[in-house]
Amino acid sequence: MPEQTTAVPGRRTTAVRPPGPDGPAGATAVAHPNIALVKYWGKRDEQLVLPWTSSLSMTLDIFPTTTRVRLDAGAGHDAVTLNGAPATGEAARRIIAFLDLVRDRAGLPHRAVVESVNTVPTGAGLASSASGFAALAVAAAAAYGLDTDATALSRLARRGSGSASRSIFGGFAAWHAGRPTGSATEADLSSYAEPVPAAGLDPALVIAVVDAGPKDVSSRAAMRRTVDTSPLFEPWAASSEDDLAGMRAALRRGDLDAVGEIAERNALGMHATMLAARPAVRYMSPASLTVLDSVLQLRRDGVPAYATMDAGPNVKVLCHRADADRVAGAVRAAAAGGSVHIAGPGQGARLVGEGGR
Ligand code: PMV
Repeated sequence: MPEQTTAVPGRRTTAVRPPGPDGPAGATAVAHPNIALVKYWGKRDEQLVLPWTSSLSMTLDIFPTTTRVRLDAGAGHDAVTLNGAPATGEAARRIIAFLDLVRDRAGLPHRAVVESVNTVPTGAGLASSASGFAALAVAAAAAYGLDTDATALSRLARRGSGSASRSIFGGFAAWHAGRPTGSATEADLSSYAEPVPAAGLDPALVIAVVDAGPKDVSSRAAMRRTVDTSPLFEPWAASSEDDLAGMRAALRRGDLDAVGEIAERNALGMHATMLAARPAVRYMSPASLTVLDSVLQLRRDGVPAYATMDAGPNVKVLCHRADADRVAGAVRAAAAGGSVHIAGPGQGARLVGEGGR
């Protein structure tokens, strides 16, 4: 049987053997989390994972997820381990539903053995689902022999977790909300991420982990509640379009201050939509506010530093790479007891080898 290559433009690719009479195939992929500078918050279609708004992110060079998928023709069910422990509950359900989608597309019934190792705390608003489903999409597509390019992988990863669509790409990536009308197939085909050009920027994201524990309300549930009940959701979604256009222009001219200002207002606006939901969803903790204060102080002291936050209390601070140590020091002092990590722009998801037979 001929070897097949899964292509991710600009990245090294690895040949994989499609499953066949020789036995099951396997593949291993690595993906990094991404942090949105213009956020995704709210689905217009939960089943297809189609967002209300387009979003834009930076893929990180830290906290990778490595996922190995091996087909097991004789098995009656999928066997999934996360960091060495069997996956349970909602995490297992989502991964198996994702594998069902891949099996359906591949026309293959084989169950899989999935081993995923995540180096970022899970469910703490640190984008573990982005790296997790991006790595799973790339490994599973290769193991099941799907014919995918980067756009198709982005669409596929989106079905696992919306933000995962962006982790297929390195650097900056924008995820198109896609066509709001037309058939489900048209909508699905039109919603994917692609790389965004950025000139002359040498950025860092300083990540203050003030609480590494899992969040009380999943982003899925919090989004639904926000869309259904928050009077601020529509105005935020409308302003997000302007933010995206402004962000693209700021990246094109390498203007870190404009990138940071837009990112900060977009994120705080997203949190405002949640605070106005009924009942309110509040991911910010007192420790988050202390870190946000330290970012304001850095700016008063003349250091360009801008904050963003996701579905959790942890704060990410965008700055010039040259200022990252100073920013990390200020944030570390504010996030007493928390850990601080410095990330730069990282690579997109990619195959790193066969999972073995
Ligand atoms: O992809 P999800 O379901 O984990 O949602 C991620 C949502 C935010 O991280 C809050 C924003 C974003 O665009 O990544």
